[in-house]
Amino acid sequence: MRSLIDILELSTEELDELLNTADDIIENPQKYAHKCEGKKLATLFFEPSTRTRLSFEAAMYELGGHVLGFSEAKSSSASKGESVADTAKVVSCYADIIAMRHPKEGAPLVASLNASIPVINAGDGGHNHPTQTLADLLTIRRKKGRFNNLTVGFCGDLKFGRTVHSLIAALSRYKNVNFVLISPKELVLPQYIKDILTAKGIGFTETADLQEAMPELDILYMTRVQQERFFNEEEYLRLRDTYILTPEKLDNAKSDLIILHPLPRVNEISVAIDKDPRACYFDQVLNGKYMRMALILKLLEVK
Ligand code: NCD
Repeated sequence: MRSLIDILELSTEELDELLNTADDIIENPQKYAHKCEGKKLATLFFEPSTRTRLSFEAAMYELGGHVLGFSEAKSSSASKGESVADTAKVVSCYADIIAMRHPKEGAPLVASLNASIPVINAGDGGHNHPTQTLADLLTIRRKKGRFNNLTVGFCGDLKFGRTVHSLIAALSRYKNVNFVLISPKELVLPQYIKDILTAKGIGFTETADLQEAMPELDILYMTRVQQERFFNEEEYLRLRDTYILTPEKLDNAKSDLIILHPLPRVNEISVAIDKDPRACYFDQVLNGKYMRMALILKLLEVK
């Protein structure tokens, strides 16, 4: 029995397999409509979510399965002091697979060590978010057709942005990928991730200037400043609007750039960009559902 806590637990071959399954689901949805009949997904969300929880639930329904769960910690026994380990043991009696989001880094890992069913990390604090990476990878493959030979700009909150951490890890395994890390100095990528890039000989540069980086980018991954991870409200208010992508700022961008954002967007991307064919953030939303369907099938070992 396997869980998915960190994106690197999937080999690149397994990622290809999931991406191929997602492509096939898009082409032939009826083939998959009964694959999970009689199976139950538990969504244990101790933190707010729109896309991740609803896409997991939609994914399970589209596979013919059922869903149970909670969407806030205060409606679960966590509010009475129950541990994540005990919750995982209990939910293992009711469901076949768990998707868990938690504000504490490592909580889904603890759940997976105590559950008797697969656990999927649906976001743990400012650490990782592997299933958003699955959505990002399907979008990149469908739009750009490759993972090699890409210059990828990450812009905004690279410190707390868990989607950034997981996508950098995933892309680090391909050839000739360069990262441009665009953030204010207060929100730079954590040192432990930069150390991994350096050890693997992967090229990256750090800058605070989005405009200067723009012309070389094949992918621009915008992020929200993660208000809920700040200790200091004043600092959040000072940093939240550091980068606002407007149509003029794309004047010197490549014509085949793709603009990604895990969403929710606050101010980072002007709505005027939505009409630009390079804007792919709503594609990511739909692709996330297909990749979660593929992942559920894999972890439940459904043929
Ligand atoms: C992201 C998250 O929860 O980390 N959202 C998502 O799952 N698509 C990004 C964010 O909240 O900024």
